Amino acid sequence: MIKFIIQGGKPIGGEIAVGGAKNEAIKLIPAALLSNSPVIVRNMPDIEDCKRCLELFQDLGGTVEHTGEEVILTAPAEIKTTLEPKFANKLRASIMFVAPMLARSGKAVFPHPGGCVIGAGIRPIDLFTDGFASMGVDIDFSDGLYHLSTKKLKACNYFFTTVSVTGTESMMMAATMAEGTTTLKNCAMEPEIQALAEHLNNCGARITGAGTPTITIEGVTGLAGAPVSVIPDRLETGTFAILAAAARAKLKITRCHPGHLDSLLTIFKKMGIIFETGPDWIQMISYPEKIPAYNLKTHEYPGFPTDLQSPFTVLMTQAHGTSLIHETIYERRLLFTDMLTQMGANITMCDPHRVVIQGPTPLHGRSLTSPDLRAGISMIIAGAIASGKTEIDNIYQIERGYEQIDTRLRAIGVDIVRSE
Ligand code: EPU
Repeated sequence: MIKFIIQGGKPIGGEIAVGGAKNEAIKLIPAALLSNSPVIVRNMPDIEDCKRCLELFQDLGGTVEHTGEEVILTAPAEIKTTLEPKFANKLRASIMFVAPMLARSGKAVFPHPGGCVIGAGIRPIDLFTDGFASMGVDIDFSDGLYHLSTKKLKACNYFFTTVSVTGTESMMMAATMAEGTTTLKNCAMEPEIQALAEHLNNCGARITGAGTPTITIEGVTGLAGAPVSVIPDRLETGTFAILAAAARAKLKITRCHPGHLDSLLTIFKKMGIIFETGPDWIQMISYPEKIPAYNLKTHEYPGFPTDLQSPFTVLMTQAHGTSLIHETIYERRLLFTDMLTQMGANITMCDPHRVVIQGPTPLHGRSLTSPDLRAGISMIIAGAIASGKTEIDNIYQIERGYEQIDTRLRAIGVDIVRSE
């Protein structure tokens, strides 16, 4: 079993560069199925989730060419209409292939997507099935598989009863080639959605309003290819900024977009943390002697991202006073706090959505298992500030979203090795 082994308490500093956004890259891959000529992707992160999506793209008949810094994606003339369970069972993002399959061939057969364990029970796909049904798709569930088919996607007016990132992106992709003009309401507003819409427009789509709650898509008959550069990963940026705060480090985070992290940086200011920002960097400068406790509530963008809740929870174990962490999006994203308790944190779980942290408490190294991507990276942060040795198992979950994380963290002073 491959593990990360961390010797905690080493000083951190210097510079760390941010990679391309996972949650844009893994949508650009299925979106390339919509284009009838190659899509050239730059700044694609070399992470496990992208590798799985590229494998799935190839399994559906697409070709993938790596040329230095670029990945060239070419859709097949005819797309296979089944998502193989070996991909779909492991990867929630496999659901992102369904809309392009429907737009191109009018058919998609797939099992319920698997993936990481952060929602209650099986993470639902009702917003996708409801949305596709309102575009004229027939949906049947038999032999453990969803069977979706339509002669031609039709434009619709669709209201999302729950704000959903991948739901918004799926309906937006489906509508690019539907007959007529689609209006989507109560859409998610994440920067990755806006980036995907800009790319699709560069390919010939007619999308307006992405990044706001209402998106309008005028259907076109086909899309061409276009080059696209993946935006910096705001969640990786935030992770590094929180690591710096937890370790009280003078760290410079480069190749990032500070404007995508207003929620975190505003909270840092309130806490008395001093930093400077430039167009593509954040310099963490100094920290109050006592970092104050903070009551956090996760929210859809531009609110505080659920994906940064776990790292922030680690930071609050070092804050002075009582913090309430309210995770509003996912039921299982606070379960990892049990591991912080094993490391010495004083955390009480009120219910699946809320924990109370009494700080500060010193943390001590332990042997831990990473349940999901964001909890996993938070254990690395906890290990880096703990005394003694922390071992983290199941690191595939971390490598799903953070490229060469051990090498990059070593370069800023974290004593971390990847060991068999
Ligand atoms: N939901 C439904 N029905 C659906 C889909 C979602 O009820 O059909 C609910 C979910 O159960 C959840 C809420 O809607 O309570 C919001 O989930 P959302 O659909 O927005 O999540 P997602 O689109 O599956 C994306 C990111 C997540 C990130 C959330 C933030 C991708 C591939 N994933 O997930 O990223 O946490 O948005 O809302 O873009 C991560 O990067 O670690 C990660 C999990």
